[in-house]
Amino acid sequence: MNSAIPRVASIAGVDPSGGAGLLADLKTFSALGAYGCGIVTALTAQNTCTVTGVHVPPQAFLRQQIDTLLSDVALDAVKLGMLADAPTVATVAERLAHFEVAIVVCDPVMVAKSGDHLLAGSAIAMLREALLPRTFMLTPNLPEAGVLLSQRAPDTVKEMYRAAERLRELLPLGDERWILLKGGHLPGSDLTDLLFDGDRMIEMSSPRIDTPNTHGTGCTLSSAVAALLPRYAGGFRPVEAAVRHAREYLTRAIAASGQLQVGHGHGPVHHFHAAWARPGS
Ligand SMILES: Nc1ncnc2c1ncn2[C@@H]1O[C@H](COP(=O)(O)OP(=O)(O)OP(=O)(O)O)[C@@H](O)[C@H]1O
Ligand SMILES: [Mg+2]
Repeated sequence: MNSAIPRVASIAGVDPSGGAGLLADLKTFSALGAYGCGIVTALTAQNTCTVTGVHVPPQAFLRQQIDTLLSDVALDAVKLGMLADAPTVATVAERLAHFEVAIVVCDPVMVAKSGDHLLAGSAIAMLREALLPRTFMLTPNLPEAGVLLSQRAPDTVKEMYRAAERLRELLPLGDERWILLKGGHLPGSDLTDLLFDGDRMIEMSSPRIDTPNTHGTGCTLSSAVAALLPRYAGGFRPVEAAVRHAREYLTRAIAASGQLQVGHGHGPVHHFHAAWARPGS
C-alpha cells in the first residue's frame, strides 16, 4: 500500500443532514485516511426523508471554486457526485480536462433515496458526451444505468452483466477505465455489485443488511473508492483491491448505522464506526 496521504476532492451537492453528498464524502475520506477537499455544485434543503429545495450557484462561481483549488492543490483523485444540470456538467468536465485530473470517480447521481430528482434530464447527454470521456470509474446504480443506456433498468444479475458491458462502451475504449455497477436496488438477501474494465468482470456479493439506514450508501461507496485508489496504486490488481476495501468499509458503516439516531427517514451510515468507541463501552 502507498503510505502517502492522498489529497482527494469531492465535487458534489451539500445535503445538510450529512448522510449523503459532500458532507458524507468528506467523512468517508477522513475515515479512510485521505485529506478531503470539497467543491459545491449545489446546495440542497434536505433531511433524511425529503429534498425540499435545490440552489445551484452561478457557473462562474463553480468554475472559480475549481480553478482556485486545483491551481494550488495537486489532487490524487476526484469524486463527482450531484451535478444538478447540463451547464454544471459541462463546467466540471471542461475544468477537469484543463487540469488533467487522472483519477475521476463519477457517481452519476440522478435521484435521491427519497425519490427526489437531482439531475436535470437535459444533463444526461452532456454527461455522456463531455464527462464520461474524462471518467476513470463510473459508479451507477441500476436506474442510473438504465437512463445512461436508454433502456429499462436491469432487474436480474444476468441483465447487470450485459448492462456493465454496454456501459463500458460509453467510456474511452483502449484506456484503463472501469464500471462499478451497483446492485443495491435488486431485491433479495444478497447484494451483487459488478466491476468491469472491458475485459475482467468481477462479481462482488455480500449479504443485505436489514436496515432503513441506507441514505448515502452510493455517495459513501464512490468516495471510499476515490480515497483508496491512490493508496493501492502500484500494487497487485489495485482497482479491485480498492473497491473490495471500499465495500468492506461501507458494509461495516451500514452495519453500525443503528448506533446513530438521525432523523425519521432513511438514516445515515456510521462513517466513523472504526474510530469512535461505542457509547457506553
Ligand atoms: N442494505 C444494504 N446492505 C448492505 N449493502 C448495501 C445495502 N444497500 C446498499 N448496499 C450497497 O451499497 C452500495 C450502494 O448501492 P446502491 O445500489 O444502494 O447505490 P445508490 O442507489 O447509488 O445509493 P444512494 O441512494 O445513496 O445514491 C452498493 O455496494 C450496495 O451493494
Ligand atoms: Mg447514488
